[in-house]
Amino acid sequence: MLAQINEAAAYIRQFSREVPQAGIILGSGLGNLAGEIMDRTEIAYTDIPHFPPATVDGHSGKLILGRLKGQPVVAMAGRFHYYEGLSMQQVTFPVRVMKALGIHTLLISNAAGGMNRNFRVGDLMIITDHINLQPEHPLRGRNDSTLGPRFPDMSEPYAKPLVAKARAIAAAKGISLHTGVYVGVQGPTFETRAEYKFMHIIGGDAVGMSTVPEVIVAIHSGLRVFAMSVITDLGIRDEDNVITHDEVLAAAKAAEPHLTYIFSELVQQL
Ligand code: HPA
Repeated sequence: MLAQINEAAAYIRQFSREVPQAGIILGSGLGNLAGEIMDRTEIAYTDIPHFPPATVDGHSGKLILGRLKGQPVVAMAGRFHYYEGLSMQQVTFPVRVMKALGIHTLLISNAAGGMNRNFRVGDLMIITDHINLQPEHPLRGRNDSTLGPRFPDMSEPYAKPLVAKARAIAAAKGISLHTGVYVGVQGPTFETRAEYKFMHIIGGDAVGMSTVPEVIVAIHSGLRVFAMSVITDLGIRDEDNVITHDEVLAAAKAAEPHLTYIFSELVQQL
């Protein structure tokens, strides 16, 4: 895998001499932050050696290099999901490549279903911990110790200083935020009512089909991680509750300006 990572990174480096400090993965319907990146170069995933193709609606599939609030960054507009049929190694390959490019911090956004009864559609939740219910693990198989340890510690995957900074940024701007536990599932079905209830009982505040594999690989790689969910639907409600992908995208779009603001300010303060 190391050779493939290096090949992809070498290809990307041809487009920019600058070493990105932070990597940003933008979730479903949350791609607008990319527009704030100045002096940017966009590279289609399909042009990068060993990158899998992006297939889901709302995921445009390009890597963006440039400066956000003056900081060199690399952003992924569109991410890869296990439910697309990719391996966990493919899903997380871009994280390895961004690490090889030089990032020390990874910021992740996603759309997620809320299970916490205090949550409303359009709310933001900083992820402070996760529960991994995905059926495969990105680190299964022989460990390459040049990439990271065999048994990574996961006692605090989400960097507390970044959580504190994001909270301060939001408070100063009057943006209300939740913090909570993200449950990572395979999808592509949304959950049954009983499943949302189960995930709430085991300690989840929000559920989604991404993020956990990337976070695991980021921690394995020694990166600092910050992640935030936009609550796009509510799994636990008394009334009927049909969830559609269009509804998820619309809610993500509505909440996006606040998310963009927090990510940009956070990058500036890194
Ligand atoms: N469940 C799983 N994934 C999701 C959801 C959800 O309710 N909303 C957005 N992504």
